[in-house]
Amino acid sequence: MYGGEAVTQLEHALQTATLAQNAGAYPSLVIAALLHDLGHILHDLPDDAPGHNIDDLHENLAARFLEQHFIDAVSEPVRLHVAAKRYLCAKDPAYMDILSEPSIQSLALQGGPMDLAEINAFELSPFYKDAIRLRRWDDQAKDPDMISPPIEAFVEMIEACLISG
Ligand SMILES: [Fe+2]
Repeated sequence: MYGGEAVTQLEHALQTATLAQNAGAYPSLVIAALLHDLGHILHDLPDDAPGHNIDDLHENLAARFLEQHFIDAVSEPVRLHVAAKRYLCAKDPAYMDILSEPSIQSLALQGGPMDLAEINAFELSPFYKDAIRLRRWDDQAKDPDMISPPIEAFVEMIEACLISG
């Protein structure tokens, strides 16, 4: 399961990618959406790590893996998707209301809402807007009733985003 949510990791990944695709995102951002939580399955911590006061730093784990194989337009939004949550919490007062309980729980461990210096630094990233879009789909992709296409539907796009050679 996806730490405390009503869907599995695979369902969450497919739902996030499907929401990206439905929004007309570039293939690279669809694949970033698909793989954004890969870090959760690259460590041996319990899937409710935040409940044990542990930040699993899954965004960094995933990005370090992805940057070896994929273009920056995939790995960078993934690296920034937790920062995007902290950014949105600081910039958009209504945003906190839509966060799930596990997301709020992990927020504190991840540093809470950004301060002004962090906001300014975040906005310097060429991928910060992609990270925010990804984050919005991420937050919605926890719906036990949503039907998504299977992983096979994304294979061609995955291949198109690999670093060539
Ligand atoms: Fe996620």
